[in-house]
Amino acid sequence: MGGFYFEEFWKPNSICTFTYMRKRLVVLTGAGMSAESGLKTFRDENGLWEGHDVTKVASPEGFRNNPELVLDFYNQRRRQLKETSPNKAHLTLAALESDLDVQIITQNVDNLHERAGSSHVLHLHGELTKVRSTGNPNNVKEWTGDLVLGDVCEQGHQLRPHVVWFGEDVPMMFRAVELCTRADLLLIIGTSLQVYPAAGLMHYAPEGIPIFYIDPRPNLNSHGNLKVIPKIASEGIEDFKEYLKNS
Ligand code: APR
Repeated sequence: MGGFYFEEFWKPNSICTFTYMRKRLVVLTGAGMSAESGLKTFRDENGLWEGHDVTKVASPEGFRNNPELVLDFYNQRRRQLKETSPNKAHLTLAALESDLDVQIITQNVDNLHERAGSSHVLHLHGELTKVRSTGNPNNVKEWTGDLVLGDVCEQGHQLRPHVVWFGEDVPMMFRAVELCTRADLLLIIGTSLQVYPAAGLMHYAPEGIPIFYIDPRPNLNSHGNLKVIPKIASEGIEDFKEYLKNS
């Protein structure tokens, strides 16, 4: 794969030095990335938001009105996650690290990228396997079992899922934007691009860099430097690998 280039650093009062740099591939993933692992997407037919009222299970108001319903929704997701494994597309992305500096920005709260072996994963919408104190958002804990009312932090505040709900800030957005601005290649996989600010990230990529969008029901058409691959993740990623081989 032709994924290497030299970058020159000039330091005042010193000789020029050359550093061996790998191309940076920034990947934005959504629920479709984990569909082949058996996890439901949100907006597809029979998706999670068809069976659940998003305002009731994924908003601060929902948690205030019926915390048990919200905790139960995420307990089900956490239990289901234990039964699933990374799919071929997760594994392929992890393997690309041998040639590229792969930086993943995921909207997914599952941990399948990490379990596939990816080293740099930024969770834009939080993580199912973490909880945090309702009294101190910086008090975040690993959590693999069920979370129930009465599970509290050291200061006695109820714990909540470490997930970004609708209407809440997206604290990792600044880091995600920064990653996109320094991308050499951008790959988008399995997202309907309906939810902001994540859907706007591609606009921070440097002008003209190659952008690929793998999705069987894509919400964009190929144009300019954007190439749409209308396939499921495990198949589309093979086309992307082919591009890397030939470029
Ligand atoms: N491979 C790739 N993509 C797929 C596959 C597959 N096997 N199956 C479905 N898809 C695509 C769908 O065509 C759709 O475009 O995955 C996308 C899933 O879209 P959404 O359900 O809207 O999920 P996502 O874009 O990740 O949602 C963003 O919305 O409610 C929230 O916080 C939640 O992070 C989530 C955010």
